[in-house]
Amino acid sequence: MPRRGKAFGELAIIRRGGLLTEGETILRTGPARSLEREALRVGAEAIDCRGRVVMPGFVDSHTHLVFFGSRVNDYELRSRGKSYEEIAQAGGGIQCSARKLRQASVSSLVQQARHFLDQFACYGTTTLEVKSGYGLEIALERKILRAIRALQSESPLELVPTLLAAHALPARYRGRPSRYVDEVIERLIPLAAGARADRGVKLQPSDTEASGAGPEGGPSGPLSRAAAPQRLAEFIDCFCDRGAFSVEDCRRVLAAGRQYGLMPRIHAEQLSRTGAARLGIELEAASADHLDMLSDADVRALARSGVAATLLPGANFHLGLKSYPPARQLIDAGAAVALATDFNPGTSPTLNMQFIMTLACTQMRMTPAEAIAAATINGAYALRRTGWIGSLEAGKQADLIVLDVDDYREIPYYFAVNHCVKTVKRGRQVKFKIQDSKFKMEPKG
Ligand code: NIG
Ligand code: FE
Repeated sequence: MPRRGKAFGELAIIRRGGLLTEGETILRTGPARSLEREALRVGAEAIDCRGRVVMPGFVDSHTHLVFFGSRVNDYELRSRGKSYEEIAQAGGGIQCSARKLRQASVSSLVQQARHFLDQFACYGTTTLEVKSGYGLEIALERKILRAIRALQSESPLELVPTLLAAHALPARYRGRPSRYVDEVIERLIPLAAGARADRGVKLQPSDTEASGAGPEGGPSGPLSRAAAPQRLAEFIDCFCDRGAFSVEDCRRVLAAGRQYGLMPRIHAEQLSRTGAARLGIELEAASADHLDMLSDADVRALARSGVAATLLPGANFHLGLKSYPPARQLIDAGAAVALATDFNPGTSPTLNMQFIMTLACTQMRMTPAEAIAAATINGAYALRRTGWIGSLEAGKQADLIVLDVDDYREIPYYFAVNHCVKTVKRGRQVKFKIQDSKFKMEPKG
């Protein structure tokens, strides 16, 4: 269950605590002394974390990990006074990332994302959602999903794949968004869901061949389509906003995804209030994300619903906005608020959940304890995984991080630095390639 209401900011802190794991699983938590005998009996390896904070690994429930190159040009244009929407209308924005992605091979996408995954682990994230969405056509979306699949098989972190089926309207569909939505429903969703052609789905030969440069993308490469169709996504998402897709088009996309077993989530009320959050509630989405422009009634409706309210303050920060999503109102009304990075090249190029906690506390008046709950157990809720990740409890997966701070409140307080000194996923320490002087420090105490 997520944290909401009165329990939201109540962390179950154990001072001088300990945690015993076996294989991938947490066996027991409690005062370190009470675990010593059992630890000796089973011959457990001891890791001294004295003077540090041990907490669940971050669950980053909203990322656009797979893109190619960056958008530093957009960034400079914004510093010169252009807005995100003006740049998008002039052919920058998502369309720019789509052009870059078209030129990239699957292996170069994997290579860039692999480097970022190393950083995610180094900053303490143990599970992250990963969206497609920069393809804007079937074969290119498939290329992204294949890259995610390849990353899943090599990374120690858990990657949760989402088909971001309607992100931006491809230029050739200008003025005909519902035609594009038809194509998404008829071809892209079945492909992402791994539906067989014998289910009556119209798959075209071009759907199963990655276009764009690179030998790995072709049908005979190592990342080529296996004989049996594979499910390539778990969730379905869409960008429901001014300049993106309408509520009506998004309803069709998400409902079709659900029919194929993809659970809905939605980019909602980021640039304008469209009613997207209400659509998320109507469709029982796993989460509605951004939520900058919510009305008071929307806040109450979300609080009554099972939809996670996922806030992405990294986007507000990077776009230089003065206002932030209404975290306080949502929490006080009883919503299951989650925090995520929205890691993407356009609006939020950060993968540091510790900095997202800082933004939550400094800009949205969440308490440090609320920010921790929102970045762990409620992130797990947004990905429908509270049964096995998001908190340190007996029986759950041993996904934990060690931070070099005396008090958990120092995590957001000493901001824009990395406090994480150890990342453990499924009971195993994750090794990073990144060289950081902090990792060479001797244990305290
Ligand atoms: O979550 N809102 C839509 N999608 C991304 C931005 C994508 C981009 O600009 O590349 C977001 O902010
Ligand atoms: Fe996003």
